Amino acid sequence: MTQTMQDVQISTKPAVMEGLKGVVFTESKLSFIDGEKGILKYVGIPIQELAENSTYEETAFLLFNARLPSKSELEAFDAELRSRRVIPAGLIEQMRLYPKDLHPMHALRTAISSLAMFDQTADDTSEAGKLEKALNLTAQTATIIAALFRLQQGLEPVAAKTTLNHAANFLYMLHDAEPSAEQARLFDIALILHADHGMNASTFTGIATASTLSDMYSSITSAIGSLKGPLHGGANEAVMDMLAQIGSPENAESFINAKLEKKEKIMGVGHAVYKFFDPRSRVLKEYAEVVANKHGKSLAYSTLEKVEEIVVARLGSRGIYPNVDFYSGVVYSDLGLPKSYFTPIFALSRIAGWTASIIEYTKKNSILRPTANYTGPSDAHWIPLEQR
Ligand SMILES: CC(C)(COP(=O)(O)OP(=O)(O)OC[C@H]1O[C@@H](n2cnc3c(N)ncnc32)[C@H](O)[C@@H]1OP(=O)(O)O)[C@@H](O)C(=O)NCCC(=O)NCCS
Repeated sequence: MTQTMQDVQISTKPAVMEGLKGVVFTESKLSFIDGEKGILKYVGIPIQELAENSTYEETAFLLFNARLPSKSELEAFDAELRSRRVIPAGLIEQMRLYPKDLHPMHALRTAISSLAMFDQTADDTSEAGKLEKALNLTAQTATIIAALFRLQQGLEPVAAKTTLNHAANFLYMLHDAEPSAEQARLFDIALILHADHGMNASTFTGIATASTLSDMYSSITSAIGSLKGPLHGGANEAVMDMLAQIGSPENAESFINAKLEKKEKIMGVGHAVYKFFDPRSRVLKEYAEVVANKHGKSLAYSTLEKVEEIVVARLGSRGIYPNVDFYSGVVYSDLGLPKSYFTPIFALSRIAGWTASIIEYTKKNSILRPTANYTGPSDAHWIPLEQR
């Protein structure tokens, strides 16, 4: 058989790396992940140590500067964040016009994009300018989400309290009531655990936008759009739906058997990178348990424990274990947060990792411009409408 020019072209096309899996496009000093051993570190520090000892503010400093702060640096950084919490009045007026039944991720994406219009230096893409935007966004995303939450319920937004830390102030702005020290600490830990996670769809999306030298607000707006997808930020909502279907621990076994027989996935388990326990799920479980034991275990928590036991026994040998989303929904529910706000809270935390990654990447910027192999017709011609 004779080989045509087209065959030659097809056979010499570069291999397609589906989903860019395993493609390394940059270097980073921020997160280290060993999926086989279940290890996550920020700038070399195990996530468990940070959860136990650090705060979200200190973790954000760590990501922005690739080192821990001194005491005075941390105090100054914390004071900076506290001073930047107020959002423009014009943005609140805009947010009042959003439909009340809008999914908060649409609202958050729109509000973050709007924030740029109230910042006269929005297009400052110098390194100092980007850090400035990173601080504003880290502080103000909390205020935006809390205001959205209240406006959706027909309530007035609550002004930030500078006496409270980032985590406590967010819970205060949501409920107009200061959280207990224990609730604030649990939420702080959840924020630390979600602050960064190496290269992933939303971080990559943010970096891709920033790599064109577009502004930080556009980059974070893109990242939020990427996080919104159910394959990325939405699994903890699905865990809560699953728990509602299971009802109580004694139904867990039959539920899982039925799911596996139908080859359906159990939500909150399995991970593209972790083939052992996601270390974040261990930390969350530990702290959720402290709260659960204090107030009497919730039905949801006891059911999850049972699901975990069965999943590990049935799927552990295939590298399928609980991931970070397994316990986070229960933790957030216990803090009075509705399901639709779980992904916005992921964004609230990840804003530090996104902005830090953008700052890091654009120091040695190269526009992200991959290639696609063309597979369409090679010798087509335009045909007049009446002949088609
Ligand atoms: C996260 C996820 C997409 C990772 O997937 P992956 O590592 O690329 O693995 P795949 O989806 O290709 O699945 C590989 C095998 O494991 C099985 N598997 C993976 N996750 C599973 C789960 N949660 N429940 C049951 N089986 C699962 C698949 O059915 C597949 O089995 P097969 O080889 O017999 O077809 C996947 O585990 C998943 O969908 N989990 C549930 C949703 C979730 O919790 N997402 C949050 C992630 S942080």
